[in-house]
Amino acid sequence: MNNPYLPYPVRIESIVTESEDRNQKTFKLVFLNPEDEAKFKYMPGQFAELSVAGQGEIPIGIASSPTEKGFIKFTVNKVGKVSRYLHNMKAGDIIGVRGPLGNSYPWETLQGKNVVIIGGGFAFTTLRSSIIYMLEPENRPKYGNIDVVYGARFPGLLLYKDELAAWERRDDINMHITVDGTTDPNWKYNVGFVPAVTKAKAPSAENSYAIICGPPIMIKFTLPVLTELGFPPDRIISSLELRMKCGIGICGRCNIGTEYVCKDGPVFTLEKLSTLPNEY
Ligand SMILES: Cc1cc2nc3c(=O)[nH]c(=O)nc-3n(C[C@H](O)[C@H](O)[C@H](O)COP(=O)(O)OP(=O)(O)OC[C@H]3O[C@@H](n4cnc5c(N)ncnc54)[C@H](O)[C@@H]3O)c2cc1C
Ligand code: FES
Repeated sequence: MNNPYLPYPVRIESIVTESEDRNQKTFKLVFLNPEDEAKFKYMPGQFAELSVAGQGEIPIGIASSPTEKGFIKFTVNKVGKVSRYLHNMKAGDIIGVRGPLGNSYPWETLQGKNVVIIGGGFAFTTLRSSIIYMLEPENRPKYGNIDVVYGARFPGLLLYKDELAAWERRDDINMHITVDGTTDPNWKYNVGFVPAVTKAKAPSAENSYAIICGPPIMIKFTLPVLTELGFPPDRIISSLELRMKCGIGICGRCNIGTEYVCKDGPVFTLEKLSTLPNEY
């Protein structure tokens, strides 16, 4: 039996600084052993533990899509010990990846549905994975309309800028990129908070699911908008980022009531969350 605590060794293939403040970097990782890549089967919404020798492990959402072969990607925000150390590593360095962990967005249920993706700030990582996954030519016919509302405080904080621009040019995905404010005279997208833009664009709730990830304040003010648009709680999906240790439902570090966020989540419907103690 495989030891669930043992990470796969991976090489940092490249590092992209995503944001103007240099606090978010995307790490493209390549498995040292091809058989490990074959075992690392994931779906958008799942996460993995990134381990740095002598520093520790951190849970990070998988930003790549399973349709992207030969590598996996993670976008890491520099906040503390391990993420700071990771930010100082270089292409060619070796780290560990343990996973994939947790559940994913409910891809079977989403088939035949319109999907509204709402993201804020640097919590767009597994949403990037989801968009790439749905836009894959083989997958695109399985989903209805795709609407994306993605906001950041100012343009320099948006992740994946080249991909956002490419998606903006497509006619099989409706992009609503927004910033809280900007002094850039060439800014060609929306200005306004995510809840207001969601309300203005008013994606239809009929036969639709909404996936929302972002800062708690953004989620708090967007949920009433979704309710007003007619999305019931079982069709609003979110992902929680609680403190974790083992990532596999053993240590008891991440539980909310009876649910282990690492194992039963991190993806929950609003309907499910409303039955849990408000400890997240
Ligand atoms: C399922 C899941 C998915 C995640 N996905 C991503 C991702 O895609 N990109 C990303 O950058 N981060 C993500 N996170 C958050 C990430 O795990 C933490 O930022 C990281 O563990 C911090 O470790 P550190 O050693 O750098 O900081 P520490 O030195 O441990 O802590 C520094 C500061 O960060 C805070 N912090 C630590 N852990 C968390 C946490 N889990 N949530 C909120 N604040 C925390 C601490 O309270 C402290 O203020 C995710 C977390 C979970 C549980
Ligand atoms: S992190 Fe150990 S039980 Fe969830």
